[in-house]
Amino acid sequence: MSRMFHQQRYVTYSMCYNVLSVVCHLSRGTFLSLSSVRGGRSEERGSIVKGFGRGSKELGIPTANLLESVISSLPKELNTGIYYGWASLRGEVYKMVASIGWNPYYKNEKKSLEVHLIHTFPEDFYGEELKVIITGYIRPEKDFSSLDDLITEIKNDIAIAERELEEPVMIKLKNDSFFTNKTVQ
Ligand SMILES: Cc1cc2nc3c(=O)[nH]c(=O)nc-3n(C[C@H](O)[C@H](O)[C@H](O)COP(=O)(O)O)c2cc1C
Repeated sequence: MSRMFHQQRYVTYSMCYNVLSVVCHLSRGTFLSLSSVRGGRSEERGSIVKGFGRGSKELGIPTANLLESVISSLPKELNTGIYYGWASLRGEVYKMVASIGWNPYYKNEKKSLEVHLIHTFPEDFYGEELKVIITGYIRPEKDFSSLDDLITEIKNDIAIAERELEEPVMIKLKNDSFFTNKTVQ
């Protein structure tokens, strides 16, 4: 899969979640073949859950983990791997990287969806609304021979996301109505 989707495939899979509710929807229905499978829209309700806490403690790269029921209801066409895009929190839109899969380095037994906002927050934001639009794919999940190698790779993912999201077509998505609408779509 190419790192940057073809232009008409840009916005595509977006989701909104907070501690009490999760809404996933396909905003344009052009991401891979999601729309044909899910009728262009998919909504789920669930909660953000804490992961194993390794993101902050071991990696220095905190992530928000989504509830298992949300992960199990993700379209099967959304392959496991590392993605990038935009995430909105408290009215601000931030660059983000996301990991979907089993974290082979940690040999997780359950699939997870984790989002890392490329911004330093002094506190956790559990319970607050976060909206996410995935705009591109970076790579498949990998195993690593050391924690340092995993950290180096994630930092490289962040650098790729930082760069790709500067593309005009990506910046346009930062202002998508999904982020500006007050109500959950
Ligand atoms: C951008 C990004 C890329 C990642 N890539 C991998 C990977 O290739 N292999 C892997 O095992 N885990 C990968 N992870 C997942 C981390 O291992 C995970 O975030 C960490 O274990 C923290 O999980 P926790 O919050 O459940 O403790 C990635 C996470 C992010 C945010």
